[in-house]
Amino acid sequence: MSSFPQLFSPVDLGGLTIKNRLFFPPHGTSLVEDGKVGDRLVAYHEARAKGGVGLVIIEGMSMHPSFDNPSKYISGGDPDVVPGFSRLARTLHRYDCKLFGQLFHPGASNRASADGSKRAAFAPSDVPHDRYGLIPYPAPAEWIWDVIESYGRAGGHMREAGFDGVEVLASMGYLVAQFLNPRTNLREDAFGGSFENRMRFLYEVLKAIRAKTDDETVIGVRVSADEMAEEGLHVDETLAICEALDASGLVDYVNVIGGYSAAASGWLHVFPSMSVPHGFWAPQAAAIRQRIAKPVLVGGRINQPQMAEEVVAQGQADMVGVVRALICDPDFPVKAQKGKFDDIRACIGCNQACVGHRLSYYPVSCIQHPETGRETQFAHEKSPAREPKRILVIGGGPGGMKAAAIAAERGHDVTLVEKDGQLGGQARLAQMLPGREEFGGIITNFEREMERAAVKVERNVEADVVFVRERAPDAVVIATGAVPRRPELEGADGAHVVDAWSVIRGEANVGGSVVIADWACDWIGIGVAEKLARDGCRVRLAVNGIAPGAQINEIVRDQGIGDLHKLGVEVITHAGLFGADDSSVYFQHIINREPIICDDVDTLVLAQGHNRIAGLVGDLAAIGMPATLIGDALSPRTAEEAVLEGLKAAMAL
Ligand SMILES: Cc1cc2nc3c(=O)[nH]c(=O)nc-3n(C[C@H](O)[C@H](O)[C@H](O)COP(=O)(O)O)c2cc1C
Ligand code: SF4
Repeated sequence: MSSFPQLFSPVDLGGLTIKNRLFFPPHGTSLVEDGKVGDRLVAYHEARAKGGVGLVIIEGMSMHPSFDNPSKYISGGDPDVVPGFSRLARTLHRYDCKLFGQLFHPGASNRASADGSKRAAFAPSDVPHDRYGLIPYPAPAEWIWDVIESYGRAGGHMREAGFDGVEVLASMGYLVAQFLNPRTNLREDAFGGSFENRMRFLYEVLKAIRAKTDDETVIGVRVSADEMAEEGLHVDETLAICEALDASGLVDYVNVIGGYSAAASGWLHVFPSMSVPHGFWAPQAAAIRQRIAKPVLVGGRINQPQMAEEVVAQGQADMVGVVRALICDPDFPVKAQKGKFDDIRACIGCNQACVGHRLSYYPVSCIQHPETGRETQFAHEKSPAREPKRILVIGGGPGGMKAAAIAAERGHDVTLVEKDGQLGGQARLAQMLPGREEFGGIITNFEREMERAAVKVERNVEADVVFVRERAPDAVVIATGAVPRRPELEGADGAHVVDAWSVIRGEANVGGSVVIADWACDWIGIGVAEKLARDGCRVRLAVNGIAPGAQINEIVRDQGIGDLHKLGVEVITHAGLFGADDSSVYFQHIINREPIICDDVDTLVLAQGHNRIAGLVGDLAAIGMPATLIGDALSPRTAEEAVLEGLKAAMAL
């Protein structure tokens, strides 16, 4: 019997039997090709269907010219989408995986135009949209009816192509939620005013979809249990909406999530990062499930089968959504079903390559599994090496570990040497920053992958040219990483200067008044500032950019900026470090070179980026031994690039 009897039991949604309780919720992938489903999106979803998920709901797609952007969204209203849809449906059905599609209109949250200009966004009323700083146009009734019809048309295209269901996005403060919400819907016509009138748009959309599909099509609605913003929908309002939907007979299920698109505070909850507790929305889903008869789906920071089983077993929801968990490990379901829990590559909620990419409209990927979004380039089963070789990987950070695991999986005889006693490289430091403990999961995951692939690991071994010559490998991968960069500072002899790494490790003796000079504008400056503020220091964070975290994804950045504000950290922007003395730190404004002076400073903490450690490559070249440089040893960046380069290096061997 499976270790997860509930999770792997079938479930009925509107008369459709789904083989298990795990589903892949809708998410924009940026794998769309000219507004259609092409090879890349088919391969992406096929990998998950093959991995055993019971239901895929594909990304929120457009359906109306007021929101049509074929480079970023599927154009569900265009009849030319049908052949691509059919191919996707046929592919997923081969794995007994059901397929729904989500229909999405942003209303006031409509910023994406094809040519870079800002669209005039249409919404129920001209209520300001805080996150984009725009005032939408109050939609005329003809526009509303035209949009309703287009929902039906797009639903019809999905059904024609063999989709099993259609979901309407009514969550996260987008168009449907704007109609439902009395603070964003100030209309006095048939679509506004009373609760019944505010529900009308959604009801009409659902009726239009049913009219253009058939009785067998499963139709569902996604709601935010709580939009987590003052002007967004709140728990009691969502409960009332769900009860009304249930009573209307127009839906077959309700899919519960949270967050809001029109305010930064609510936006953080759409993509909950590692500081948000696992299964955050499950209790709210349970409250809804108690009040309605239709099945309830839930998702949000669920990355382990044990957790998913509990949600179903406790009756909190009928199905459990796992987006990033499957972006990170497409085989999560099949591994869980076979009891191979330790083999699951758990998502760590870093939001780097999935959300980070999508918010810039790059294809979604994963820092731990860069094959995601690149399925047509890197097949799921790695091609065996044509000629097995003896490979030496030098450096046990994420990039080196990925290179070693993949090379060994392909049949090479791989040894990884690490100069420290523990593997992980900078990931070991990253996990020590406040709220980022889960980052260490990347080390556990890669250690397991190397173990499964039978990589030989040698710790406390500093590889130099003599060592490499003695080992005489057929190929070498150098993943030796980087060290903190310490730029020349004017007059700094008398200053107390430490680097961020020693502060993170708790090795530096830091005074009560600290200035952090943050050149990279990444996680380190924010994290060290938070740590020192929590330790009781007066902290000034001077960043060489427009904001702390300017170089990282906006979700983690904004969460960090909010936390720093609560802790009373003073932020100074556009500050290029110049010099220091025993009590002051001197910056120059990076635009006009005007001085910025911080007085009464006990300690200057340097977060000035990193210098690569790559001397070995020259030494090996001198003895005629070629080597592949990856990650920070090539050019200091992030774990994402190191792991991707590890993959590429291993596939080239
Ligand atoms: C890259 C990305 C794009 C998303 N796009 C959508 C979308 O189109 N529609 C939607 O309802 N939710 C979207 N979401 C939210 C997810 O469906 C899901 O609610 C969220 O990722 C939390 O679930 P998880 O912790 O399992 O990843 C997106 C999430 C991600 C990561
Ligand atoms: S990039 Fe991070 S958050 Fe995204 S799927 Fe991978 S581990 Fe999870």
